[in-house]
Amino acid sequence: MRNSSVPFRSARCLTATTLRTSTVPLLLMTSWLLVIPACVVRGAPDSAVDRGRLIYLERCAVCHGPQGRGDGPEAPFLSPRPASLISAGASVKSDAEFLAVIANGKPRTAMPAWKDRLSEEQRREVLAYIRTLIRFQPNPLTPPPPKEQR
Ligand code: HEC
Repeated sequence: MRNSSVPFRSARCLTATTLRTSTVPLLLMTSWLLVIPACVVRGAPDSAVDRGRLIYLERCAVCHGPQGRGDGPEAPFLSPRPASLISAGASVKSDAEFLAVIANGKPRTAMPAWKDRLSEEQRREVLAYIRTLIRFQPNPLTPPPPKEQR
């Protein structure tokens, strides 16, 4: 009797402790399920594009407009007008071409040189953000057929 009950009790203890300790990694694993979608939805919190967006809104949007269309509040007072950064003509320009204009400005236009005010890294970040302003529509723009009336 005694001999058989001892291993039985210790076996119960063993399962209880393994269960308790196994809940810790389980909780750690499941907490990722909550964290990962939050990152996907909001974007990585401090990415280059995010930093570029802040620079753009602070320094560039006044001329180039919030969406890069060249229609910022200063635009009507400038000749030549600030460039649209999302036109087909601008989109085909290489990163090197854009970075040169951002660093050195554009002669005989209001486009300032930023090389003394923004680091090379910041100029790359703002360019990364500008490129995200170009959006392709994955679906045709025609509206879907109306739903059947019931
Ligand atoms: C004071 C107004 C003004 C501000 C502020 C300004 N720009 Fe410009 N930008 C211009 C004008 C004007 C042009 C020249 C338009 C043209 O090329 O026809 C230009 C041209 C450019 C071009 C060249 C576009 C092309 O197709 O060649 C880039 C890139 C650009 N700006 C980026 C920026 C960035 C990035 C910032 C902020 C860091 C900025 N600009 C701030 C007025 C401005």
